[in-house]
Amino acid sequence: MKTLKTGIVKKHVGESIEQEGYEMRLIVERELEEVVALQGLVYSKLPNKQVLYMDSYDEMLTDMNLGAKIVGVFNQNQELIAYRYVGFPGYDDKNLGYDINLPHKELGKVVHLETTVVHPDYRGNGLQSLTLQQMIPVVKEMGYKHMLCTVSPQNYFSLFNIMKNGLKIKALKRKYGDENTGKEGLWRFILHRNLEPVSLLNPRELLKTSISDLEKQEKLIKEGFIGYWLFTESKELSYVRFDGALV
Ligand SMILES: CC(C)(COP(=O)(O)OP(=O)(O)OC[C@H]1O[C@@H](n2cnc3c(N)ncnc32)[C@H](O)[C@@H]1OP(=O)(O)O)[C@@H](O)C(=O)NCCC(=O)NCCS
Repeated sequence: MKTLKTGIVKKHVGESIEQEGYEMRLIVERELEEVVALQGLVYSKLPNKQVLYMDSYDEMLTDMNLGAKIVGVFNQNQELIAYRYVGFPGYDDKNLGYDINLPHKELGKVVHLETTVVHPDYRGNGLQSLTLQQMIPVVKEMGYKHMLCTVSPQNYFSLFNIMKNGLKIKALKRKYGDENTGKEGLWRFILHRNLEPVSLLNPRELLKTSISDLEKQEKLIKEGFIGYWLFTESKELSYVRFDGALV
């Protein structure tokens, strides 16, 4: 499999830090077990399980057969230390374009950033961002235009990395619930970036709100505001309303 990128990462070993080489490349089907194992390990160590909605082996395999791609980061011992899973929902109900009222003709150009995980020993190398940046030219080349994902309001490490890469908050709602069983969904921001250059609009109003004030943010989004930037220290989000609508 073609190498997408190589480099050096820091690994936390007890109190000290070691350096290791890494290779980024697309995962092949026989490596899917490793992906599921890494997801399980990361989930088991999460203090707040609400932030990660787990994908099963079968779901990922079906999705891969439909074209989904998983970028893996391997250390010098060829162990998987991080991955990013990218899916192409087409006109399926799960297309997040529906959640942000994307025009129907655009739905076929939607790419989903599904799960990303980084092994706890390798956090702080910017691997979530690096894998995302690596995938942008790949999906653009394939003709995709709208990058969308969900992020938990409680997952500010992930939210910061996603917003840093130009995705904006366009909706806030409960996702992954089940009407039949009455299972309540998990709160998720829905973020979007148009991968093609968009014309600049004039910001009309700008304000800040605490990331934990979901009610206020729901109201702002209904009024046409877009979540623009996350201030990590204060855990506040800036919301902007433009003259005209951004697609
Ligand atoms: C979200 C996640 C992928 C980010 O990993 P990453 O790319 O290594 O993060 P960054 O390199 O941007 O980290 C920046 C800083 O935040 C810290 N950090 C990142 N994730 C952290 C976490 N979950 N808990 C505590 N600190 C964390 C890093 O150690 C680093 O600190 P430093 O600057 O002092 O070195 C990783 O935290 C993770 O796997 N979380 C669990 C799964 C998840 O929530 N995935 C996203 C939803 S699908």
